[in-house]
Amino acid sequence: MERILDILRRDSRESTPYRQFFHYETADETETVATALMKLCDASDLRDLSGEPARPILWECSCLQKKCGACAMVIDGIPRLACDVKLADCKETIRLEPLRKFPVVADLTVDRTVMQDNLRAIRLWLTDQAAMRDKVMDAAYEASRCLQCGCCLEVCPNFYAGGSFTGMASAIPFSRLLAELPVSQRKEAAKLYTGRFYNGCGKSLACRNICPAGIDVDDLLVNSNAIAVWKRFGKP
Ligand code: SF4
Ligand code: SF4
Ligand code: FES
Repeated sequence: MERILDILRRDSRESTPYRQFFHYETADETETVATALMKLCDASDLRDLSGEPARPILWECSCLQKKCGACAMVIDGIPRLACDVKLADCKETIRLEPLRKFPVVADLTVDRTVMQDNLRAIRLWLTDQAAMRDKVMDAAYEASRCLQCGCCLEVCPNFYAGGSFTGMASAIPFSRLLAELPVSQRKEAAKLYTGRFYNGCGKSLACRNICPAGIDVDDLLVNSNAIAVWKRFGKP
């Protein structure tokens, strides 16, 4: 079946964005948007829909198995992983845009450094022994599935790069830290969680259904809030 890829492009960080259209044809409808992008980029003589020469499309990928989060982009208006979206589930024209909450490097590639900065800001590391008890394993495992893709930040009305609110992408790994810290060491982590996430979160849960990893956001937040805000022990 034939598809048109409508791509929002930008040659560099400073340049003006423009749309460029590409024809893509395949007999295999189980192919993903990532596959289509790879095949287009592999073409020795890439041309746009009007037959004009085009430079290769810049985008990121690594695992192609929904495990790394690198290929996150806005597909038909929704932040998703390109390796998770089958052509069979797309319309004839597929609109691809970079994530909007991060600086664009070029085309569909964005600079997500702010996510690592936010993890550093909330001091997401253990300074002493972790208390990995059987009871915290489920929560720890669920939180560890976060890909740091940034899709949840894309739909969050309260997150912007450089702001003090660190968003769900940091609250999820932070929930693991809160669950694993011994009670005696939770005070500072609880303060950071409350100040950098809880107080700024509108609790609308717009981010709940967007997570491509399918993380149980509600459950982890309930547990973190119990530990950090309500000073209860949480699920463990
Ligand atoms: S619940 Fe709303 S404000 Fe809080 S992180 Fe999710 S989208 Fe953002
Ligand atoms: S919580 Fe989900 S959407 Fe947000 S960064 Fe992690 S994997 Fe991506
Ligand atoms: S390439 Fe790793 S999640 Fe898509």
